[in-house]
Amino acid sequence: MDDRITTIVNDSLDAIAGAGDIAGLDAIRVATLGRKGSITLLMKGLGTLDPQARRQAGQALNAAKDDLQSAIDRRRGELERQRLDALLEAERIDVTLPERPAPGGTVHPVSQATDEIIAILADMGFTVAEGPDIEDDWFNFGALNMPEEHPARQEHDTFYLLPAAGGARPVLRTHTSPVQIRHMLDNPPPIRIIAPGRTYRSDSDLTHTPMFHQVEGLVIDRDIHMGHLKGCLRQFVEAFFGVDDVPMRFRPSYFPFTSPSMEVDIGCSFSGNRLTIGEGEGWMEVLGSGMVHPRVLANGGVDPEAWQGFAFGLGIDRLAMLKYAIPDLRGFFDADLRWLRHYGFRPLDVPTLYGGLTP
Ligand code: PHE
Repeated sequence: MDDRITTIVNDSLDAIAGAGDIAGLDAIRVATLGRKGSITLLMKGLGTLDPQARRQAGQALNAAKDDLQSAIDRRRGELERQRLDALLEAERIDVTLPERPAPGGTVHPVSQATDEIIAILADMGFTVAEGPDIEDDWFNFGALNMPEEHPARQEHDTFYLLPAAGGARPVLRTHTSPVQIRHMLDNPPPIRIIAPGRTYRSDSDLTHTPMFHQVEGLVIDRDIHMGHLKGCLRQFVEAFFGVDDVPMRFRPSYFPFTSPSMEVDIGCSFSGNRLTIGEGEGWMEVLGSGMVHPRVLANGGVDPEAWQGFAFGLGIDRLAMLKYAIPDLRGFFDADLRWLRHYGFRPLDVPTLYGGLTP
């Protein structure tokens, strides 16, 4: 009996030491200490022995059982530790790596300025209207009192597109003024709208780019006059620049679609690579404006005997240059990340009149 026990114990201890995983270990436990295991069966057979031998064999079997159980427990502990180590190794995180960089995107100064302009004018009662970038000749020129042979057409340095079969050449709109006509045709007066958007002219220098941005303004009512126009523009400029002594110059001018017409300049200086607003001898033209020409009202389906109004077109990019002191307009559209990081705005700084515009 003792020999058999010793053999079982030795064989089982070898098997336990060699068990490669928990399942293998369990199989050994079942084969020895389980209900039909070798040690269990020997214990069941004790009853057939005489008392003396039974006591002896009983003690030996109990000792064997204890030895095997503790060997199994120890091996189980080892195997579990190995499994955990393997897991930790596989899911290892290098905590010395640098943290993930913060998102680098910024809001472009044109977007920021557009949002600020809309916020100010919306507070003055304007709603936003839109029109297409690719325009019919009629909306961009004809309806705005610039017939085919009109000399002002040449000054626009227009980008033309290929004509549809038999039709006129579409144009990339040279200003946002065609939205005036489109809006009047769809909406009866009174009207108070602004139309921000892209505009295109074949031109490029410090203050011109082939694509630029304007906000059109149109107010039509029964008794609108130049005083309203000047007051509206001054209030806008003061709100936009956040000061009430911005040097402004109202210059008599000419546009085919307004009469009388005036252009507005803001006082500034370019010296070296610095742009400063409100000092020096320089002026930057930022908008054109005037009283809407009766023929333009008529082309928009509005009776010029009953209604009158004013219109203006602001250059967004130039206002952004002045406000944020950016000396060269061409940098706006170079997509240079260093420029964007330097001049861009934090994405959550949405300008509002109550929360604050950009200081
Ligand atoms: N459309 C003109 C331009 O782009 C600006 C303007 C708009 C002038 C409305 C008068 C009225 O230069």
